[in-house]
Amino acid sequence: MTADGFAPWLREQPSLSGSAPPLDLEALPADPAELFVAWMREAADAGVPEPHTATLSTVDAHGLPDARTLILKDVGRRGWAVAGPRSSAKAAQLATNPAAALTFWWQPVVRGVRVRGPVVEAPAAESAADLAQRSAAARHGIAPGEWVRWWIAADRVEFWQGAPDRRHTRVVYERAGDGWARTVLPA
Ligand SMILES: Cc1cc2nc3c(=O)[nH]c(=O)nc-3n(C[C@H](O)[C@H](O)[C@H](O)COP(=O)(O)O)c2cc1C
Repeated sequence: MTADGFAPWLREQPSLSGSAPPLDLEALPADPAELFVAWMREAADAGVPEPHTATLSTVDAHGLPDARTLILKDVGRRGWAVAGPRSSAKAAQLATNPAAALTFWWQPVVRGVRVRGPVVEAPAAESAADLAQRSAAARHGIAPGEWVRWWIAADRVEFWQGAPDRRHTRVVYERAGDGWARTVLPA
């Protein structure tokens, strides 16, 4: 089979066929990390396998975007944490352009989250602890110092929730001083 004539098949594929849990726009938390954790738990409860899998996008030295799949390691006051080898393309890109976007899509709940912001390398002890927590197979051949944890210090977080009638909901948090400004946009 070639890709010719593939477009009709693509059009037949269902999209946004999940079902979103209720979202109370009057009761959104002040901190996007809190809403993110709630949404990830709801995704897991709805049966999303490996809901902590995300796409990390970076920019290379020529200004070209790059993206790959990886695992979310933590969320909190410092932002969203991911990890990988120092010898990787993403590490070189983050050294040159310390900024990233992280994207999640949880199909059964028709929800996606976009996180973006500057990236800060974690202290060496924290990266070493991250490596130590990996399975023996995943640690194989990787020395401490060769494994890096990065924090995406989000300055914008978008929560998108799809609806069957296409009246989607988009909640955007943007950093404002020490806190966050929140906007609810039509999708
Ligand atoms: C489900 C899944 C999880 C992954 N988790 C990680 C991860 O946590 N860290 C990592 O460096 N690569 C992870 N990878 C591999 C990356 O997608 C990628 O191939 C690798 O990091 C090299 O990317 P780079 O050359 O752009 O740096 C994962 C891949 C998949 C499919």
